[in-house]
Amino acid sequence: MKKQKDFKNTASRGKLLFPLVDSSYDNKEILNCISILLSGQLTMGPRVKEFESEFSKFVGAPYSIMVNSGSSANLLAFSAITNPARPRHITPGSKVAVPAVCWSTSLWPIVQTGLVPVLVDVDPQTLNLSISSLKASLKKHDIKAVMMVHVLGNSTEMGELLALVKENDLILIEDTCESLGSKYRGRYLGGYGDFGTFSFYFSHHMTTIEGGMVAAKNEEDYDLLKCLRTHGWSREQSNKEELESKHKDIDPRFLFINMGYNLRPMEIQAAFGLEQIKRLEMMNFYRCENVKKLKRAFQSHSLWKGQLHFPLPTTDLDPSWFGFPFLINQELKEGREKFTKDLMKRGIDTRPIISGNMALQPAVKFFNVDLSMGPFEGAQQIHEKGFFVGCHSKPLDDERIHHLVTIILETVIENTR
Ligand SMILES: Cc1ncc(COP(=O)(O)O)c(C=O)c1O
Repeated sequence: MKKQKDFKNTASRGKLLFPLVDSSYDNKEILNCISILLSGQLTMGPRVKEFESEFSKFVGAPYSIMVNSGSSANLLAFSAITNPARPRHITPGSKVAVPAVCWSTSLWPIVQTGLVPVLVDVDPQTLNLSISSLKASLKKHDIKAVMMVHVLGNSTEMGELLALVKENDLILIEDTCESLGSKYRGRYLGGYGDFGTFSFYFSHHMTTIEGGMVAAKNEEDYDLLKCLRTHGWSREQSNKEELESKHKDIDPRFLFINMGYNLRPMEIQAAFGLEQIKRLEMMNFYRCENVKKLKRAFQSHSLWKGQLHFPLPTTDLDPSWFGFPFLINQELKEGREKFTKDLMKRGIDTRPIISGNMALQPAVKFFNVDLSMGPFEGAQQIHEKGFFVGCHSKPLDDERIHHLVTIILETVIENTR
């Protein structure tokens, strides 16, 4: 009873009863960061390498390259597949299928590297890329690559996707920024494509405050990604000496062998990540337990009348949930804004599923984004009726869950026809 009161007080004080994200770090991360500050080695160095190696071990990727965000990871992956130095690259103007429910920087790196995104629809049952829409896009367009965005820890029918990739000789990039820890047939997502990208932004499965990673499969790609990550110089190349010996007239410290960016992370971020990754499996376990408990609490609640649809994991997928998503099965009387405002007034933070239907975003009209596979009915359903609440990295107790579920159901009932 006392706890129940505390929840209400928390809400009325303006603090959230149920925030989207709980804080997942403690003194160990802080002390690690302090020791980096005291060491004097602040820019990318040995801790980044160590974290890359731990991450590779965790996800089972042969090579991992850390960058300063998940968005940078996507940019780096697309820069690699369009780079003439990569034997298997695609040329400007090539088309890339991307689900209409994706993050902005799942989409824009395609445009930024001179490619043309072709939006395909998503399946509201899974929130993820619709295989039938992808198949239709392959018939209609000369698609060269797929940007598979694994949404909220779930995925598409991976078996079918991988078969289409093989049959059509497509390059596959897996945006795994929301799905670190999800496994298809026992192997982590992000390890199936040419490249897998990950985000360590504060709200994600694990955090380096800001940060990201690209997982790669072979040494050639590893070398290329390292080069593009840092100015295009030769310093980290496995054949550095050979390259330097060919250009004796250039200072080897400033030998540029390709174009490049500066997407480097800092040592502090890696130090943070080295602690977080030790707890990743445990945090993911609690996220999934909390999702199971929430689902059970909805379905056994006295107000439950099947008002919500909970997305289903796809075949052979073991999802590592990023949040607790649901779609409202009826029409919202006054739209989504009123519904989310009502929940917020009661201390419950929600957000759209990624950002809803990307085809509606005003930015799309300025660039060559192909919308010919529309109307995106699945994406539109998610846009109008899809939400998620946090699933948190620590165990949620039953009383708190019951309270949360009661408020959500009451608010749905008030807001639907
Ligand atoms: C699917 C997806 N891709 C990419 C990103 C970008 O990651 P970051 O915020 O680390 O740049 C996000 C961010 O949340 C995301 O959800």
